[in-house]
Amino acid sequence: MLQPGVNSSLFESLSVGAVTLPNRVLMAPLTRMRATDPGDVPNPLMAEYYRQRAGAGLIVTEGTQISPVGKGNMDTPGIYSDEQVEGWRLITDAVHAEGGRIAAQLWHVGRVSHESLTGGVQPVSASATEYRSRATLKGPDGLPQRADSPTPRRLSVEEIASTVADYARAARNARDAGFDLVEIHGAHGYLVHQFLGTASNHREDEYGGSQENRARFALEVVDAVTAAWSPDRTGIRISPQGSFNGLDEDDLPMALHLAGEFSRRGLAFIHLSEPDWAGGPALQDDFRKELRAAYDGAIFGAGAYTFEKAERLIGLDLIDAVAFGRSFIANPDLPERLRTGAELNAPVPATFYGGDAQGYTDYPTLTA
Ligand SMILES: Cc1cc2nc3c(=O)[nH]c(=O)nc-3n(C[C@H](O)[C@H](O)[C@H](O)COP(=O)(O)O)c2cc1C
Repeated sequence: MLQPGVNSSLFESLSVGAVTLPNRVLMAPLTRMRATDPGDVPNPLMAEYYRQRAGAGLIVTEGTQISPVGKGNMDTPGIYSDEQVEGWRLITDAVHAEGGRIAAQLWHVGRVSHESLTGGVQPVSASATEYRSRATLKGPDGLPQRADSPTPRRLSVEEIASTVADYARAARNARDAGFDLVEIHGAHGYLVHQFLGTASNHREDEYGGSQENRARFALEVVDAVTAAWSPDRTGIRISPQGSFNGLDEDDLPMALHLAGEFSRRGLAFIHLSEPDWAGGPALQDDFRKELRAAYDGAIFGAGAYTFEKAERLIGLDLIDAVAFGRSFIANPDLPERLRTGAELNAPVPATFYGGDAQGYTDYPTLTA
């Protein structure tokens, strides 16, 4: 696992679009399923959790759905209603009061869902292809329970436009809620990725077929979000070569094509969710070099990073910062622990998803 150390390039500052990060130890987006039901509203418990982790160079929030049909798990927060914006305001205020910075991860799960999560509406996707996966619902005991996802409904061209508009509304809401940045969730087999992938996108219109056409939805989302706020407040997460939610293909050419388009649009960052934390291959340095050449903004790496891997790749100038997931769940003061070489608490997977303060806000800091 992660090896603590001192005097690292992880503690140099970094410009990311309009924002300056004081260190390069970022908190990865982590779904924790503790929003208030009904309404999927961010709450004071969540504010305390994020406040505790404000020492991160940047916090990226858990995925937050841009619309009711974009939801794919129980008790995930949304960012489409006024009540949700008020809830997120508690969180951004708490993080800023501790001197931190926070980005909202804008999420639409597409087909990785279930009618019971979307208010009875059939989940949507690029195409109506049969889909074998499981969604996380709330069981009778209030704890997560898995159920089969149904075959999704294909979005019409008009519905694609209204979905893109939902992303723009989410970006405006994020700005109004006091976020520093937004991260479009383009990874892990969710809606944006479902358009990119040939296994999930069988369309014959301008959104399917060629690489350029399959990238169209992602770029329309990027254009809508940057127009709603600003390119220097916008980044995107992608997961090339990752096998998530039924998508597993040779998509490095697509990643490089997208990187060029993101660069032309002045996006602040690309956040790589790398495949090797979930059993996939490790990204190769040759790919990282091509990505660096194709894209002008900041590049974040994430996924089973050790201290040595972070140092090596930042040292080679192949990435600029590292987002840590599970270590940040268990160590609210992770940057301080890495800086001082302190021991790390071990994460407890049983309390990752759903529940209360236990396994959420009760991991001890060094000073506790
Ligand atoms: C409990 C849990 C929830 C996650 N939720 C999200 C999420 O909402 N959005 C996302 O892009 N990735 C999500 N991920 C992936 C993490 O952001 C990260 O890429 C992954 O944990 C690998 O990093 P690590 O090895 O440092 O934990 C999640 C991972 C875990 C363990």
